[in-house]
Amino acid sequence: MNIDELPTAELASPGPLRESLVAAVLAGTKTATSSLRVSYAVAGEAVPAVGAHRALVDSSGERVAILETTEVRVVRLADVDDDFARAEGEGFTSRAHWRDAHADFWDSPEARAELPAGFVVDDEALVVQEYFRVLGLLSLGQLSDRDGRSPLHSLLGRRRTSRRFGADPVRVAHLGRLLLAAQGPVGAGRRSVPSAHARYPLSLTVVAGNVDELPSGVYRYQPDTDSLTLRVAGDHRWAFADATLVDRDWVAGAAAIVVIGADLDASARHFADQSPAGDRGARYVWLEAGHVSQDLYLQATEDGLGAALVAGVDDDRLHAAADGVLPGGHRPLVLFTVGSMMAPDR
Ligand SMILES: Cc1cc2nc3c(=O)[nH]c(=O)nc-3n(C[C@H](O)[C@H](O)[C@H](O)COP(=O)(O)O)c2cc1C
Repeated sequence: MNIDELPTAELASPGPLRESLVAAVLAGTKTATSSLRVSYAVAGEAVPAVGAHRALVDSSGERVAILETTEVRVVRLADVDDDFARAEGEGFTSRAHWRDAHADFWDSPEARAELPAGFVVDDEALVVQEYFRVLGLLSLGQLSDRDGRSPLHSLLGRRRTSRRFGADPVRVAHLGRLLLAAQGPVGAGRRSVPSAHARYPLSLTVVAGNVDELPSGVYRYQPDTDSLTLRVAGDHRWAFADATLVDRDWVAGAAAIVVIGADLDASARHFADQSPAGDRGARYVWLEAGHVSQDLYLQATEDGLGAALVAGVDDDRLHAAADGVLPGGHRPLVLFTVGSMMAPDR
């Protein structure tokens, strides 16, 4: 069975209602649906048969799951019971609740347009109750032994981009923890992030302007020794902020900007035997920049710092700002801004 070859099952009309119904099906809380018997006749369709398979589609027409009809009952509207109301998974607590909501829907112009003229939805109207199951559905949220409250899960939930920084300096120990999380040594020559061929192609350069006990300057992180070395003294935050496309004002207010850089050509050469030659190495570098960025975010979150990744930059201006401070052959890829926390802003 291939989902792309099945007839479709469409719940309600495309839009928020369909999205919520599809979500309820996938969450395992909606296991039935109902239609007026007459609407099958109007559409020239047969009532679903037990064992039939259809593809559930979402609002964009995407096929999201295979439904199998498990039971079909045709009942008078007056005979719809509480169990069926609950199986519809739309929060109905009783048949009366179900009935009120459906009476409103079937009375809407949208529903009326698909019913025979003059059709009256009363106690005698026939309702098709279709029960179904989703094939191959595993509702992960309902696994009893999945711990959604692990420290990592909690950290992930609290991680946010914040673009307004307080005036308080960032402690140098916190800066150190960020760098350790991003590229720090973890033993046996390895670092805190995965790296293709364990090459570790990324460099981290810190543009510090408001870090306790660290004079303003541009520093290079040395992962092997977990240390910083000064490249250029003075506050150079503005030069990097000015290389961003729209974010310069708040970027300049970051206590420090971590510039993630890499030698893309060297990486391309190293992976030239992997297709597509010339492109593979760069892909790996960008993937690894993503790993580093997430680690930076999570460490900032753990230490209560505000943080934002900024990739919307003018490449030429950023190259100029980074000229001479990144390792030879490295170009700046993305900026990670960090500062004392005000509030997540979007
Ligand atoms: C690759 C990438 C590039 C981004 N570039 C920028 C940027 O240039 N400016 C900015 O303000 N935020 C930038 N962000 C942050 C996103 O806007 C932010 O992650 C998104 O709005 C989701 O919010 P959250 O991080 O709070 O979950 C970038 C994020 C990523 C992953």
